[in-house]
Amino acid sequence: MNDTAFFTNGETYFFRDHGQFDLLRQRLLPELIERRRKTKILRLWSAGCSSGEEAYSLAMLVDTLLPKRDDWDILILGSDIDETALTKARHGRYKQWSFRMAPPSLKQCYFQRKGDEWTLDKRIRDMVTFRASNLIGETFPGAKLRDMDLILCRNVFIYFGAMAVAAVADKLAAALNEGGYLMTAHTELIGHRVRGLQSRLFAEGVVYQRAVSVSAVTKHAPSIIPNIPLEPGSFLPPCRGKARMGVELWNGNVSTPSLALPLQGGGDKTASTQSTPSAPSAQDLLASARAFADRGDYDQAGQVCSQALSIAPLAPEPHFLLAQLAQLKGDFEQARILLDKTIYLDPRCVAAHLELAALCERTENLPRAQTLRRAALEIVRALPGDAVIEPYETTAAEMARCLAQ
Ligand SMILES: C[S@@+](CC[C@H](N)C(=O)[O-])C[C@H]1O[C@@H](n2cnc3c(N)ncnc32)[C@H](O)[C@@H]1O
Repeated sequence: MNDTAFFTNGETYFFRDHGQFDLLRQRLLPELIERRRKTKILRLWSAGCSSGEEAYSLAMLVDTLLPKRDDWDILILGSDIDETALTKARHGRYKQWSFRMAPPSLKQCYFQRKGDEWTLDKRIRDMVTFRASNLIGETFPGAKLRDMDLILCRNVFIYFGAMAVAAVADKLAAALNEGGYLMTAHTELIGHRVRGLQSRLFAEGVVYQRAVSVSAVTKHAPSIIPNIPLEPGSFLPPCRGKARMGVELWNGNVSTPSLALPLQGGGDKTASTQSTPSAPSAQDLLASARAFADRGDYDQAGQVCSQALSIAPLAPEPHFLLAQLAQLKGDFEQARILLDKTIYLDPRCVAAHLELAALCERTENLPRAQTLRRAALEIVRALPGDAVIEPYETTAAEMARCLAQ
């Protein structure tokens, strides 16, 4: 395999990964908007946008978070190597498949139906600019691809070899403004150190931030990493415009996002999670560990997570969180041990299989990586096609397709 994309797939849909979109709506975009209130310039980029659902999801978020923006200069850029996908993106016409994980009333708020297609309102289409770009071949930062406040580059690195991942990640980092964010799909950059970026672990996953100057930190400290738990499953505020006021776009009939696997339900493992009424439960400690991790306090997160583990030594979730923390600290051997334990405790945990496979690839243990991916494929194939695989927010059918390739 060389270091360029050898195979690509344009799989995408609106608000893919609820957890990441919750994070964008409730923390990252409000912070960026606040930071840009003086200059009123905001630059967002969906790199590898395929047929546009991701870029338009960003536009809908901006529309709800910043309804009065006439005096703002806002760029929402969608780029892709695939011209056919970009043509589809510019048309803004989508079939039901693009809405498979979207809030039920999204269509009501922003789309017009014609036959079996839904056309996005021109008002939102006009917010997004599309352009062709090969992330590997194009040199940037350059005249256009520069000074970004937020870059989403999700489910794109999976098509690149290790050298291309490193080169593109470095270029994306350099195209960010100070304090700007890079969001990838889960685990895409784990194991890669990207120059100039700090990783921040939220319950919804890792986000990378370009270093902020001391003055900017002082000015924005309260809003940069606020310790407020996100409301799951409410990634857009009540719908305005066409739909009735007060109608929540997300009405809760789809599973809510969570980084963790559900706590084991049954048998000895459940018994081990019980605690006395006065003591914090393993679940409380795990939630608290995630809150520390959200704030970037990985040491404290690790300590509290270890306490959870002492109460519930057979629960897979603390092992999984500790493995993620170990990876963030660059302790890949410890991460490997913890992921092995997670799989031992929950042999059906797809995420642990895939993260461990990525670690094995990193250390060139390719046979083990292959075995783990095959095992993950068998697990997802045994699930109903529409089951959601956490924390990837992907259906079992979709993941099976990807893993089978
Ligand atoms: C699976 S889609 C991801 C779409 C969207 N980001 C998401 O997560 O839903 C991957 C996209 O990456 C694009 N891509 C692959 N290699 C690329 C490259 N070298 N430069 C730009 N885009 C690329 C593909 O054309 C495809 O549209």
